[in-house]
Amino acid sequence: LISRSDALALDADDGLRVFRERFLIDQGLVYLDGNSLGPLGVGVDERLRSVVRDEWGSRLIRGWDEGWLSLPVSVGDRLGSLVGAAPGQVVVADSTTVCFYKLLCAALDLRPDRRVIVTDRNNFPTDRYVVEGVAAARGLEVVWLDGVGVDEVREAMAGSETAVLTLSHVSYRTAAIADMAEINRVAHAAGALALWDVSHSAGVLPVALDSSGTDLAVGCTYKYLNGGPGAPAFMYARHELLPSVRQPIWGWLGRRDPFAMEFGYEPAEGVTALLSGTPPVLSLAAVDEGVRVVAEAGVEAVRAKSVALGEFTIALADEQLSELGFAVASPRDPARRGSHVAVAHADAKALCASLADRAVITDFRTPNLIRLGLSPLVTRFVDVWDGVSALRELAPMGD
Ligand SMILES: Cc1ncc(COP(=O)(O)O)c(C=O)c1O
Repeated sequence: LISRSDALALDADDGLRVFRERFLIDQGLVYLDGNSLGPLGVGVDERLRSVVRDEWGSRLIRGWDEGWLSLPVSVGDRLGSLVGAAPGQVVVADSTTVCFYKLLCAALDLRPDRRVIVTDRNNFPTDRYVVEGVAAARGLEVVWLDGVGVDEVREAMAGSETAVLTLSHVSYRTAAIADMAEINRVAHAAGALALWDVSHSAGVLPVALDSSGTDLAVGCTYKYLNGGPGAPAFMYARHELLPSVRQPIWGWLGRRDPFAMEFGYEPAEGVTALLSGTPPVLSLAAVDEGVRVVAEAGVEAVRAKSVALGEFTIALADEQLSELGFAVASPRDPARRGSHVAVAHADAKALCASLADRAVITDFRTPNLIRLGLSPLVTRFVDVWDGVSALRELAPMGD
């Protein structure tokens, strides 16, 4: 049996353990929800205080020329290095939902003669709703996949009129990883563009936006990038597409020479054209610090610990939970699994609430999943052990 001391021994051996000290964490809490909202970094706390007092408080309007205006692109470049994007292709702005809307519309405008958007029935709700809304507004058809395997995708696209294929790289439900490079090839062979949501992979597993041939992508910064609640999302558009990408929200900060205040919209050069309005400076500063910490640890090292935590979680779940009506709902192959482990149980909702009452924070996803989020810079093996043990204690005994 795996004991608590085994977990402590793994923690003692963990090359990333010092990173936990870089976060402000309530030590009485077992936090297994960094896949939803990452913790507060010490550097983020300090940077926010400094931006508020020294920049906003003292520089006031001068701050725009002293660096604020370039934050969407400079933070985008730094973030890009974590998702395999060379500089000049990523900006940080708006919510994931709005970024997704902008890039979906831009992609459709690049395939004006095609009438179909392909996506997955289990894609994250906001992506599905935006797809539905855009399809309704433009009179397009949506083809819903029942899974994101390469063969399913190929079948749905065969001889198709598909303009855009859009999927999540890592499933928010099961953490299953889609084969980005192969699916991009399938999309391109069918003449379609591929738009990815990398919210559940950015900062926690290697993402190869450039080398996988991805056309467009969006992602959150408040999960594994620890940018804070409501932090702006990011958009990626591959270099070759940038000159022809036209996003639909033509605001002044996406315009060439915005302070000329001229009549008529002309997009700015490059990735700046994806912007619309005033950047959220405080949140961008937080994202900048969150990204720096992940970059310092290195995505490969973060991924190695994420895999080790995932394997440990599944071994514990098999040992302690399987006889109590739980089933592991995430892929068992670590190469196919992102950084959370979902366990299914008929009473998942009530169990998740009871865990929270015992200061074990996980989350529930309807109808029957508890997600155990593994955030490698802060999650310890002992947190997983304590979380799974609490779940075992709370679960009703089987028949
Ligand atoms: C895959 C995915 N996309 C988008 C979002 C959220 O979008 P927004 O930041 O606009 O609320 C989430 C949030 O959990 C998500 O998991």
